Amino acid sequence: MGNGIAHVMSLAGYDVLLNDVSEETLNAAIATIDRNLERQVSRDKITAEAKADAMARIKTTGALPDLGQSDLVIEAATERETVKQAIFEDLLPHLKPNTILTSNTSSISITRLASRTDRPEKFMGFHFMNPVPVMQLVELIRGIATDSETFAACKAVVDKLGKTAATAEDFPAFIVNRILMPMINEAVYTLYEGVGSVSSIDSSLKLGANHPMGPLELADFIGLDTCLAIMNVLHDGLADTKYRPCPLLTKYVEAGWLGRKSQRGFYDYRGETPVPTR
Ligand code: CAA
Repeated sequence: MGNGIAHVMSLAGYDVLLNDVSEETLNAAIATIDRNLERQVSRDKITAEAKADAMARIKTTGALPDLGQSDLVIEAATERETVKQAIFEDLLPHLKPNTILTSNTSSISITRLASRTDRPEKFMGFHFMNPVPVMQLVELIRGIATDSETFAACKAVVDKLGKTAATAEDFPAFIVNRILMPMINEAVYTLYEGVGSVSSIDSSLKLGANHPMGPLELADFIGLDTCLAIMNVLHDGLADTKYRPCPLLTKYVEAGWLGRKSQRGFYDYRGETPVPTR
């Protein structure tokens, strides 16, 4: 999601420094941002000049310390707590005192992430939805120690992006994923128990409930590893068996069938059109 976040931040006028451990990923991110901005130019959503200005405001770096002088850091690494903790630990010695730290985590405790930094009062959840340039919502999550200035500063950023903030308390998976993921997990159970095929489940929710994507198509879009990680956070964090991940979801993830990003999930994306895998 980092490329989408960089896209909307630079378009709103912020200077962006994009960091990743892999230079290849950084290059791919710049190409994706260019392509998505071009899509907005071709649909008259933005001007060619706005696109050029936005591209010029984005710089990349492979060195985490370079981020130290930023006013706002938005971490959007993979959904594993140890990875996120390691990033903040590496960053801390290089930070200026008033830098606000945020995480785009979709489910991990903000209070716990914040407690391992030197500034829990300046730490928040800043959760974008995919695709970031299109989706209107940003969830803002206060940790137990987050101060009101930090919250107000993040809310002002969301306003400047032209997006809408929803405030969520810091409990597992916040609001969107607390509701969305059990629905996706239930769709996988519906498939697992043979109630419907991939196509009939997705058609049912698209045509029967006016969802823009069916739940299995959406799971592939989000990434099945992310969906499983969020179900595990709900299951562990709320200690309620109603959140147990479907064994079929686990099996797809173990197979490395993670959805669109690995070209196979509930659909096979290797051909011209996606083909259901069940
Ligand atoms: N960058 C810029 N613009 C984009 C884009 C991108 N990455 N992706 C799509 N668009 C634009 C298109 O250009 C198009 O613009 P116009 O309206 O001007 O024509 C518009 O978005 C719609 O795109 P498409 O016509 O290509 O396709 P679509 O109508 O099928 O819509 C979709 C695609 C917006 C993704 C739609 O299917 C949708 O809303 N799906 C549900 C997405 C969703 O639920 N997201 C939340 C996931 S949960 C999450 O993110 C939280 C988490 O933590 C897991």
